[in-house]
Amino acid sequence: MTIGIGTPAVGVTLEDISVSFETTEVLKGVDLTVEAGEFFTFLGPSGSGKSTLLRLIAGFGPLPLSGRVLIGNDDVTRLPPWKRNVGMVFQSYALWPHMTVRKNVAFGLVERKVAAGEIRRRVDTALNLVGLLDFAERRPSQLSGGQQQRVALARTIVIEPRVLLLDEPLSNLDANLRIQMRREILELQRKLMLTTIFVTHDQEEANTTSDRIAVLNDGVIQQVGSPIELYDRPVNRFVADFLGSANLIDGVIENAGGRTLFRASGDITIPLHGRITGAAGGLTAMFRPQSLSIRGAGDPAVEGAVPLSGRVEHREFLGSLVRYTVTVGGHALLVDDSHQAGHRTYDTGEEVALYLDTEQVRLLTS
Ligand SMILES: Nc1ncnc2c1ncn2[C@@H]1O[C@H](COP(=O)(O)OP(=O)(O)OP(=O)(O)O)[C@@H](O)[C@H]1O
Ligand SMILES: [Mg+2]
Repeated sequence: MTIGIGTPAVGVTLEDISVSFETTEVLKGVDLTVEAGEFFTFLGPSGSGKSTLLRLIAGFGPLPLSGRVLIGNDDVTRLPPWKRNVGMVFQSYALWPHMTVRKNVAFGLVERKVAAGEIRRRVDTALNLVGLLDFAERRPSQLSGGQQQRVALARTIVIEPRVLLLDEPLSNLDANLRIQMRREILELQRKLMLTTIFVTHDQEEANTTSDRIAVLNDGVIQQVGSPIELYDRPVNRFVADFLGSANLIDGVIENAGGRTLFRASGDITIPLHGRITGAAGGLTAMFRPQSLSIRGAGDPAVEGAVPLSGRVEHREFLGSLVRYTVTVGGHALLVDDSHQAGHRTYDTGEEVALYLDTEQVRLLTS
């Protein structure tokens, strides 16, 4: 018996894909390769084109104006969904309410006219994989949300898809169940070595599951990389801001006396490591809230870091850390201070000194 196991994983390639609904272009020249066996995520805000891109791989929705979709080496651009052998779990995973769990999972195999004995075997294997073999004779209304979600997953993997497509499959679940289910999906994906493309607008969900993520905005892929690469080395303001909190300050580069400085309004000067070439014009300095340390105005300085003085505007206690908003020369900077019992905190209105670890500063051009 194989469900995925034994079937070699295949990759998915998108070449120069553009899609329009009437006059609106919703995907613009998307190029992307998802490796065989990879857990890959489309991450982006609402309306950025994630579902449209996923549906295009499954074969639903409009034909692209340009470009090709390859599954493995096969060009499937013009194939109907049922000839592509991909499994898709939709956001509203609509189980048949009048059918038992077993019948729901068997549905795709019955439609494909698979022999009865084979159906039984494959459904048992799929239900076992999602831990629901004992629930086979129940109806969906007798299951929890997470269990229903797993039935939807079993129903999709039972057809032994070459690629698994998941469109916000956890959005109907409560916070704890989401965390549990995302672990289970990842475990199942690893066990089956199934190429999986997952759609979400939740960065934590993307970060915790994905081998790689494509960040989409307005129908354009902004950047592709591992969660840590995207967080540490975003290529533009959008990615920097979408994956976690970022301080973004506009300024200019000055090369003076063998030193390179970043100058911004409000008397902010940040010495940079190495000479920056070809960076004429305006740039944005990006650094994360944890790259700043906060101290009392009269406290000893943090060695090797750039001092900035400011005033606490706002304080949020988040348990493991305290997040401050500190105004420095007209810029509102976010500062994360890790928290332990007895650790000093700073009050709103208090004058403080911030210290910036300049090695953590990244310059962005857009
Ligand atoms: N059938 C359609 N007709 C016209 N416009 C559409 C259609 N389907 C989607 N769109 C538009 O295409 C754009 C991308 O939609 P898509 O569903 O791919 O976004 P998404 O990233 O999945 O968003 P969400 O996170 O809200 O699900 C949106 O602006 C949407 O309004
Ligand atoms: Mg969507």
